[in-house]
Amino acid sequence: MREFDPTRLRARFPALAATDRFGRPVVHADAPGGTQAVDRAIDAMAEHLRAGTANQHGAFPLSARVDALVDDVRRAAARFLGSEADGIVFGPNMTSLTFHLANALDACVGAGDNVVCTQLDHDANVSPWLQLADRTGAEVRWVALDPATGRLRTDDLEGLVDDRTRAVAFPGASNALGTIVDPAPFVAAAKAVGALTFMDAVHLAPHQAIDRKAAGVDVVACSPYKFFGPHAGLLAASPELLRFLAPQKLRPAPDHGPERWQTGTASFEAIAGTGGAFAYLHEVGMDAIVAHEATLTRRFLDGVAAINHVTLHGPAEVEGRTPTFAVTVDGWAPQAVAETLGAEGVNVWAGHYYAIEPMRALGLLDHGGAVRVGFVHYHGPDDVDRVLEALGELVL
Ligand SMILES: Cc1ncc(COP(=O)(O)O)c(C=O)c1O
Repeated sequence: MREFDPTRLRARFPALAATDRFGRPVVHADAPGGTQAVDRAIDAMAEHLRAGTANQHGAFPLSARVDALVDDVRRAAARFLGSEADGIVFGPNMTSLTFHLANALDACVGAGDNVVCTQLDHDANVSPWLQLADRTGAEVRWVALDPATGRLRTDDLEGLVDDRTRAVAFPGASNALGTIVDPAPFVAAAKAVGALTFMDAVHLAPHQAIDRKAAGVDVVACSPYKFFGPHAGLLAASPELLRFLAPQKLRPAPDHGPERWQTGTASFEAIAGTGGAFAYLHEVGMDAIVAHEATLTRRFLDGVAAINHVTLHGPAEVEGRTPTFAVTVDGWAPQAVAETLGAEGVNVWAGHYYAIEPMRALGLLDHGGAVRVGFVHYHGPDDVDRVLEALGELVL
């Protein structure tokens, strides 16, 4: 494992130099909402625009340079996600790409069929499937969330998946509770009946290595702005699946390869920046990130357990979770907590963060949701302590 030096790494994120009104560093503990961009991503975007941009597949050298850039980043994305380069689809964000894929499944789903969703997902991995079911007359079946453990009841999959199941959608990790989800039971159940598997890895990607092919998942979706890159989205799909399905497209747009799935002109600067983020993560190593984040998780879990007026929702153990925590504070509305902490230079989100189903399952949806505290590898123990201290001071 490479040496992990948080101070040196923090210096690679210009936005982390921000200070609050007392001159203290701002603790941006809203990483699950979007991480700060790393120098390599910022530089790659700026360099692309400075050096000149152009449409792909043109007759002049600048266009060939853009072709080479896109091919390079496709290969890097494939390495990062354990997938094939010709199955990497770039898009504006994960939500648009998921709707796009779900629309293409209309032809494969009909009345009497069903799709399986989970109560742990962000709505970007729920609404596209609900609307697919609505359009086609299919039934939606739910894998339930156990509110006591913050984990999915995957034992129920056996009864939920049958030979009329066409798609099984599940999260790699929860952006609300931090729960990491093992894809194996979903893949096993879906494979047994020939259903498509779709994993939303948006929250997982900054925290843990992903291997689409080893996991046996058909499509993995993620968003570079959650792993230190620019605002963008990408799919890593089985190339055979991309060939088999027919996406909405313009007539003159490419008829083959991943570009068949990309609508309009791609953001080449975002693709360049995404390449920078992959290069950075390769430098640091996901194993080192996992190890460092486990220490942050342990520190936060121990600390929060000692604050009587704060309740943690979701997994209470270090294993099988990211350093993302949903908490409520006795006598405080989540929004008021976020505002109070924000004034102290501690950025956290409050509400449901589009994770409507988890919040409903926890009974929090109609009560303002929860406060979400989310760290990544560029945070240190001092950041965790600042958040704990600020929560500890919230007495009525
Ligand atoms: C787990 C998860 N899935 C999906 C999304 C949607 O991603 P995007 O903003 O790229 O559409 C988010 C965004 O917060 C998320 O956290």
